[in-house]
Amino acid sequence: MLDLAWPLVRPVLFSLDAERAHEWTLAALAAAPRLLTAVADLTLGLPNRPRPGFGGLTLDGPVGLAAGLDKDGRAIGFWPHLGFGFVEVGTVTLHPQPGNPRPRLFRLPGDRALINRMGFNNRGSAALAARIRALRSAGRWPSVPVGANIGKSKITSNEEAVADYVGSTKNLAGLVDWFTVNVSSPNTPGLRALQDGEVLRRLLPAVLDAARGTPVLLKLAPDLEDDGIAAAVEIAIASGLSGIVATNTTLRRDVLAEDPQEAGGLSGAPLWSIARPKIGFALAAAAGRIPVVGAGGIETAEQVRELLEAGCIAVQLYSGLIFHGPGLPSRLTRELGVT
Ligand SMILES: Cc1cc2nc3c(=O)[nH]c(=O)nc-3n(C[C@H](O)[C@H](O)[C@H](O)COP(=O)(O)O)c2cc1C
Repeated sequence: MLDLAWPLVRPVLFSLDAERAHEWTLAALAAAPRLLTAVADLTLGLPNRPRPGFGGLTLDGPVGLAAGLDKDGRAIGFWPHLGFGFVEVGTVTLHPQPGNPRPRLFRLPGDRALINRMGFNNRGSAALAARIRALRSAGRWPSVPVGANIGKSKITSNEEAVADYVGSTKNLAGLVDWFTVNVSSPNTPGLRALQDGEVLRRLLPAVLDAARGTPVLLKLAPDLEDDGIAAAVEIAIASGLSGIVATNTTLRRDVLAEDPQEAGGLSGAPLWSIARPKIGFALAAAAGRIPVVGAGGIETAEQVRELLEAGCIAVQLYSGLIFHGPGLPSRLTRELGVT
């Protein structure tokens, strides 16, 4: 039903402002989790099968939910019922923050793309920790791995960034299955400067230490030059990280048919042509020494297969869900023949 209803639901959601549609969807999921979970189970089926993942985790399928859709973990228990084999919540920051002024999320339907400059709107890592504790004690914690994506608060200077990331990591250590260090979102001024080798050499070991044994991944921008990716991969390996996520959104616009002249990170179908070679480069730089999770414009089983065959341990998506609907992850998994 979820999948069949999508052609009817999509025009309604697309008639709303993009962020409002997002908020209403999350509010519905938070208000009626059991009902919507039951609907998803009845109509989509659960095609996932356990498979080895990063950091010694067992994933429940190769397609994961990318960060940013459920920043505050409002519907953590629901996402696996769409067929996601692992779920990344966040980005959360040490300090709760409102993000950038609205409008800050734009659909480009002709391109099947999104532009966002949300700016890490979130209730903070302590609030996420409280929510996770409540879910766990209510017995509503999902069986698939759940990771927290950690970013820097806007009010924290780059000089103080390490303490900000460490604070969030400490808040969530022991509660999530992995951390992703986000130094690659384009919407916090100066954040991508943290991809610099010298900063990463301080940041990554500090986060790993605060994570107290929980695996830590590093998420990279597709706009990094190849030598920047290679350097980041080497530092991640040397620091003892458990994976690379490639990639985040791009600042490029040359891949768009329509350019609405909005600032922010571009995601969705056109990102694939930029992210795919960068994922390939990350895989080559990793050379099997650290797992790579591929992301960026994934919307077909062929793309997932291509990335898995190229050596990715798993993939993540976000924008495809907006354009192809809630049936996408289970459809991809089914088409891959994972069931
Ligand atoms: C509206 C929106 C918000 C996002 N927020 C975050 C975020 O908070 N942290 C992060 O690491 N990535 C964030 N992303 C990036 C996604 O996790 C993903 O890396 C990127 O969108 C590429 O995948 P896709 O083309 O399947 O969407 C966001 C993406 C979108 C569309």
